[in-house]
Amino acid sequence: MTASTPAGQTPSASDPADYRKALSCFATGVTVVTTHWQDADWGMTCNSFSSVSLEPRLVLWSIRKASASLQAFLGSGGFSVSILAQPQANLARQFSAGDMSARFEGVTLHRQDSGRPRLAHALAWFDCSLHQSVDAGDHHILIGQVQDFGWQDTEGLGMWRSRLGRFEPLPA
Ligand SMILES: Cc1cc2nc3c(=O)[nH]c(=O)nc-3n(C[C@H](O)[C@H](O)[C@H](O)COP(=O)(O)O)c2cc1C
Repeated sequence: MTASTPAGQTPSASDPADYRKALSCFATGVTVVTTHWQDADWGMTCNSFSSVSLEPRLVLWSIRKASASLQAFLGSGGFSVSILAQPQANLARQFSAGDMSARFEGVTLHRQDSGRPRLAHALAWFDCSLHQSVDAGDHHILIGQVQDFGWQDTEGLGMWRSRLGRFEPLPA
């Protein structure tokens, strides 16, 4: 395997940190995925979200097998995805670590018909039943069938090269 990196840096195809850096060059949005399981709300920051199919409406994200939330997301029967707006950058950090109930402290939620919470003021949201889970290396891919969704016309939070930021359109 060969790898090339910016001038002056030593290519190291076997270095996991280099591999992560290469992956981080793909710009994404930032989401918080949530569910309700065993009488508690669960949530984590996620940028592996992607659309899969328009008909039927399927989306996916992947969860680390080592995640403390794995059983909640596999066992609850579904998940909600809240795509963060720019003013919600603090929530990207808040939902990436720490005690589960502390993650939800001070966060305004909408309780959906499914019983799952979603984050108020998100740029867009999708409430999904779990359609399929796929065992994939050190992650599970969770594919959801969209049962309900919404969006608003505001600025989205972006992630690129491990930094949060915003999308700057090029001049037309
Ligand atoms: C911007 C960002 C994106 C993330 N994307 C994912 C992801 O797609 N899948 C995942 O398993 N963890 C992802 N994480 C890490 C999880 O949020 C973190 O491991 C988790 O909240 C830790 O708690 P847990 O023990 O409940 O898993 C991401 C973290 C950040 C900051």
